[in-house]
Amino acid sequence: MTLFEAAKIRISRRTYIPELLSDEKKSALQKIIDGICERSGLRIILMENGEDCFSLMKSYGMFSGVKSYFALAGRADDERLHEKVGYYGEELVLEATRLGLGTCWVAGSYDKASTDIGLADGEALVCVISVGEIKEAENLKEKFISGIIKTKRKTASQMSKNLDSSPEWFKKGMDFVVNAPSARNMQPVVFEYTPDGVGTELLGSYSVNRIDLGIAEYHFELGSGKRITDFN
Ligand SMILES: Cc1cc2nc3c(=O)[nH]c(=O)nc-3n(C[C@H](O)[C@H](O)[C@H](O)COP(=O)(O)O)c2cc1C
Repeated sequence: MTLFEAAKIRISRRTYIPELLSDEKKSALQKIIDGICERSGLRIILMENGEDCFSLMKSYGMFSGVKSYFALAGRADDERLHEKVGYYGEELVLEATRLGLGTCWVAGSYDKASTDIGLADGEALVCVISVGEIKEAENLKEKFISGIIKTKRKTASQMSKNLDSSPEWFKKGMDFVVNAPSARNMQPVVFEYTPDGVGTELLGSYSVNRIDLGIAEYHFELGSGKRITDFN
C-alpha cells in the first residue's frame, strides 16, 4: 500500500484486538519513529500501557482493547509545536496504516496522568495516538461511533478559496485535505492559492486546531507534490 492509498482509505479505529504488537511491527514502527524524530526534533514514544490510559472510565467507553499508543511530545516553547505534531504525527499514522494497523488521534479522551513519558524540563506532551491490530471488517461499535462524530465531510471548495481558478496541483492537494482527520471532525483549515504560494487560515484558536492544521498540511503536500511547510 502506498502513502496515497493509506491517506484515502484510513478511518479512525477505536476497537482493537487486545494484544501487544508483534516484535516485527514494533521494530518497523520504531524505525519510522526514529526517522521522524531525527527530522522533526519531536520526541515520539511507543507506549504499551494502553489499558491504563484508555480504560473504560478514562476514555468514556469509546475505546476498547488499546494496548499500544504513540505519545507525542516536544519543546513547550516551540510556537509551532502543535502544528509540527500534526504534520509528523500524520506521517506516522499513514505509515502505521500501511502496516495494516488501526490508529486514532486522541487529544482529549485519555488519561494524561497515566501517560508518564518522563517529561524533561521545558518539554510538553501534546497528544497521543492509539495504535494496534484491528479486525478488517468494521464492527458495529466502530460504525456507531463514526455515526455520532461524523457530520458530513466538507468539500474541497468549502475548505479553500477560489478552487476553480487554482492550478491542477492545488486541486489535487485539496483532494487529500478533505480526507484528513481533525478533532471532532471540524475540518477547521482553509487553504488559498496565490501566485506567491499557498496560504492557510484557521477557523478556531484552540491548540487542537493547530494539530489539525499540521495534519491538513501533510495531506496537502502528499496530494499536490508541493512543499508548503518549513519547520526550520
Ligand atoms: C487532533 C485530533 C484530536 C482528536 N481527539 C480525539 C479524542 O480525544 N477522542 C476521540 O475519540 N477521537 C479523537 N479524534 C478523532 C476524530 O474524532 C476523527 O479523526 C474525526 O472524527 C474524523 O474521523 P476519521 O479519522 O475516521 O476520518 C481526534 C482527531 C484529531 C485529528
